[in-house]
Amino acid sequence: MNTNTSRNENGSAYYLSQPQADLDLVSVVRGTPSGELLRRYWHPIAVASEVGELPFPVRALGEDLILFKTPRGEFGLVYPRCCHRGTTLYYGKVEECGIRCCYHGWLFSPDGKCLDQPCEPNGGEKRDNYRQPWYPVRERYGLVFAYLGPPDRMPILPRYEALEVLEPGEWIEPDGRSLGSGGDVIAPCNWFQHWENIMDPYHVAILHSAFSGIQFIPEMAQMPNVSFEPSPIGVTSTQIRSIEGKVFRRVTEVAMPTLRVVPNPWATGFNRPVESIGWTLPIDDTHYRIFTAGRAAESGPLYYPPKGLMSGNRRWQDMTEEERQRKPGDWEAQTGQGAITFHSEEHLASSDRGVAMLRRFFRKQIETVAAGGNPAGTIFDERDESVRFAAGNYLEAPAGIPVLQS
Ligand code: FES
Ligand SMILES: [Fe+2]
Repeated sequence: MNTNTSRNENGSAYYLSQPQADLDLVSVVRGTPSGELLRRYWHPIAVASEVGELPFPVRALGEDLILFKTPRGEFGLVYPRCCHRGTTLYYGKVEECGIRCCYHGWLFSPDGKCLDQPCEPNGGEKRDNYRQPWYPVRERYGLVFAYLGPPDRMPILPRYEALEVLEPGEWIEPDGRSLGSGGDVIAPCNWFQHWENIMDPYHVAILHSAFSGIQFIPEMAQMPNVSFEPSPIGVTSTQIRSIEGKVFRRVTEVAMPTLRVVPNPWATGFNRPVESIGWTLPIDDTHYRIFTAGRAAESGPLYYPPKGLMSGNRRWQDMTEEERQRKPGDWEAQTGQGAITFHSEEHLASSDRGVAMLRRFFRKQIETVAAGGNPAGTIFDERDESVRFAAGNYLEAPAGIPVLQS
């Protein structure tokens, strides 16, 4: 980027260089550095209740796949092109033991074994020689998780204390509507643009307050005193504001591989740990979808905005294009960066140090994988399967509370 060089003292756009995205950092495609890193973790690919008796197409990390659920309740995830002659299993039929291709009826188990070849003598005497490419899946927290990486590096699907330790009468409720993105279920931009936004708490006082009017609680309009800390599996941010003479300490986190650990920004409850965990599934390089699982009670999910509002005082779906221009939110700001932002044109400033810290952390994990290691947050021993976060909204007496300096 050369807009600040002496060649271009007047800042003319005429001298702009060809813009570049840092694809080593943000591409999710198999074989790219970051795509291989992401393939070392489990990712949610669907809300379990979305999957009915028909094959369910999913796209994750740039791969098109077919998810299915047998009448026994077992999930399977397979490559869509049938290993016989390539028609898609999207038109297949789900049976007791697996999925049957519509064309010549080959039947595949959830782990891709060929169980029947009805056009072959005796149901296929050589059927054991064929295997439909498949990936492992697990159901947890009402979501379906898949592992798209090398089989010999498959970690344990972690458990999260925030979703395991419940108050009496609470349960875990899944959500696949991309809560937190502020717009449609599928967002048309690279997932990293959303993820790094979690480590950008300064924008809350501008985008969600001064610019567009109060989109969360009025106290969030205060420019907070912000600090960032690396954690073993990501980055933690603490934001200090004051409410009626008390210290409002809000802790947010990002964690590998795509987790957003964000307490309810409407702060409908204080002094409680984070109510939910969101996974920013990279659908492909230019689309993402957020899956959330969180605590719910008789009054509804604790992580929802009051009265079901998704964005500001009006539902995003009901806003006109003009209203979105006048009162943009996260959706507008992040999709507005483009399908994949041009990193070469950025000018990171001091308020971007959380973003910079997160990118450094993520790059380090890419290097670890490239060097043959296991990246942060991959668990292989069941005794370590529980993950704990510090995130939450806390209201504390000022005396004796150290206010963190940035
Ligand atoms: S193409 Fe699937 S069974 Fe023939
Ligand atoms: Fe935001």
